[in-house]
Amino acid sequence: MTTVPDASTPLPRFPADFLWGVSASAQQTEGAVDEGGRGRSSWDAFSERPGRIKDGSDSRVATDHYHRYREDVALLRELGAGAFRFSVAWPRVVPDGDGAVNARGLDFYDRLVDALLTAGVTPVPTLFHWDTPLALEERGGWLRRETVGHFAAYADAVAARLGDRVDRWITLNEPAELTLLGYGIGQHAPGRQLLFDALPAAHHQLLGHGLAVQALRARGARNIGIANSHGPTWPASGSAADTGAADLYDLLLNRLFADPLLLGRYPDDDLAALLPGPVAEDLAVIAQPLDWYGLNYYQPTRVGAPLPGGAPTDFGGIALPPELPFAPREIGGYPRTGFGWPVVPAALTELLLSFRDRYGDRLPPVIITENGCAYDGIDDRERIAFLDGHLRALHTAMAAGVDVRGYFVWSLTDNFEWAEGYTQRFGLVHIDYPTQVRTPKASFRWLRDAWRAQRG
Ligand code: NOJ
Repeated sequence: MTTVPDASTPLPRFPADFLWGVSASAQQTEGAVDEGGRGRSSWDAFSERPGRIKDGSDSRVATDHYHRYREDVALLRELGAGAFRFSVAWPRVVPDGDGAVNARGLDFYDRLVDALLTAGVTPVPTLFHWDTPLALEERGGWLRRETVGHFAAYADAVAARLGDRVDRWITLNEPAELTLLGYGIGQHAPGRQLLFDALPAAHHQLLGHGLAVQALRARGARNIGIANSHGPTWPASGSAADTGAADLYDLLLNRLFADPLLLGRYPDDDLAALLPGPVAEDLAVIAQPLDWYGLNYYQPTRVGAPLPGGAPTDFGGIALPPELPFAPREIGGYPRTGFGWPVVPAALTELLLSFRDRYGDRLPPVIITENGCAYDGIDDRERIAFLDGHLRALHTAMAAGVDVRGYFVWSLTDNFEWAEGYTQRFGLVHIDYPTQVRTPKASFRWLRDAWRAQRG
């Protein structure tokens, strides 16, 4: 049973120009996978493989956002969101990944951007949120260096079309998850189980980010960030085996993706030696200055040495293979989301302070590009408690001097939660999938009022 803390005290004041938004992504919401000349994505193919998606579903329709985006924009307006983070589907814009640009695909984002601007909502497109064009994936996807150049060309095409109205851009979403879950253990598309041989996918995504930044800047963009997932790693005990395992996990989740961007180097030479190069030259491209750094935060992870007996460990419903040199452990003593993830707002403060300490002046202003939780039901008081707790924790970090400029809730509506299908509901708005009826939840009204109070 989840304890619901008291969320009735008004939130502390955030700066007047703080960016309040909500986030979503193309593969999780758009549907219309065969319309407007869209090509197939890695996730289209992965969902067709039996047993890959928990409820046997796919994202062919998802929340039908492609057809219902006007309804979704109206909801954003009703919510009082200052910004909407959505993603552009690469296979909608370049159906084969490396061939001709599909103008009809761009037309959709053109309409969406116009509708957002008319509603007074700042569009914040993410260029890549895991939906690799299938044609490229079949040739090795992000494991191959050639993908990086195709990604930069795609970034240029999107900026050429939207850059007159879009000011704020995100290059990649969570390259760590795509590397570890998609190429490392096969829980996500493309379903590869390469363990440490997945690391080239990390380097190539980071290089793709760097080239996309160059492409966006060449088109005049001045406000560019990335959305990386991070969370504190807590060792299971003080033993050398557990702290060593936790350190490796932290390196893979946190430092591997932040150090190259912010410090211009990889956190570990042995690891850098496993990467395809020329690594030193690539790092110069990867480490170009960012206007802000986006953090997706959900939970801390407790990590120890692999368990005796070689059993796979359960990590938020994901079975990690026993060959890995670390094993996530249960975090007790906290409420849990419907997904079973521990609710630990203080770990958001801890994360932000650790970033400030590690990166110092090299850390640009931060935006929380995702934070949220899965719960069932429309009277979602647990989500209110979650958001309330995390906003207070965020404010605590800001009061301690971390320069945070915005906060985005994941997500506007319930949507396709990857390998979980439609079983996990992260939305402020409930979706009845058979009818696509959208119903704002209690958390929607709470957030609307909280944002109103901030403006008042
Ligand atoms: C992070 C991912 O960016 C997003 O796609 C996903 O739905 C949320 N986490 C929740 O798991």
